[in-house]
Amino acid sequence: MKILQIDSSALGDASVSRQLTKATVDAWRARYPEAELVYRDLVADAPAHLTAERVAVVKFGKDSELTPVQAEERALIDAIVGEFLSADVVVIGAPMYNFAVPTQLKAWIDRLAQAGRTFRYTETGPVGLAGGRKVIIASSRGGIYTAGLEALDHQETYLRTILGFIGVTDITFVRAEGLSMGPEHRERAVAEGHQQAKASPGLAVAA
Ligand SMILES: Cc1cc2nc3c(=O)[nH]c(=O)nc-3n(C[C@H](O)[C@H](O)[C@H](O)COP(=O)(O)O)c2cc1C
Repeated sequence: MKILQIDSSALGDASVSRQLTKATVDAWRARYPEAELVYRDLVADAPAHLTAERVAVVKFGKDSELTPVQAEERALIDAIVGEFLSADVVVIGAPMYNFAVPTQLKAWIDRLAQAGRTFRYTETGPVGLAGGRKVIIASSRGGIYTAGLEALDHQETYLRTILGFIGVTDITFVRAEGLSMGPEHRERAVAEGHQQAKASPGLAVAA
């Protein structure tokens, strides 16, 4: 089994989503000791924002036609798509920043969604090609969005949409919310997140 762990919080050791991705991966490795882990830290090694030069890379066939920036872009896309498609379990740390996901995570998604590789267009609409794996999202947020404020959540709903677009249907959320609502609430939310992380390997895996 292969596990891919992605972190995107800018808060380093103070990050709750980083705690929860680690707890999730630890739980999976305890259950499947032979599991191989691939780790990508999107803050330590941030994908660049897209530019015209970078986006043009998909139009070129030969590596010899690429500028150095485009060669780097192609290698980045290949790595990100390759890591995802070879993983049985993908654990994504996704804090809510300004109602959405951190820009580093968005930049990773911009490389993951590749026509012909993770999805394709057909006469009847787009078809996902990246299903058949489990995705666990460690979601952390300052407020509470599961009890009346669902319409403001462009973080979990966005991730569900884009992952669904590339064919991933097996998505589980390990969640700590209300983290900015006082120490008591925070402590309880983090503990709940850890419980969910610990329980996540109990869910069926298709590998
Ligand atoms: C730049 C920034 C923007 C944030 N925006 C929101 C927000 O829109 N809604 C919210 O509930 N919490 C927001 N928060 C709080 C974070 O979601 C919360 O601190 C969470 O713990 C972040 O996850 P992390 O600890 O893994 O970084 C924001 C935090 C930061 C640093």
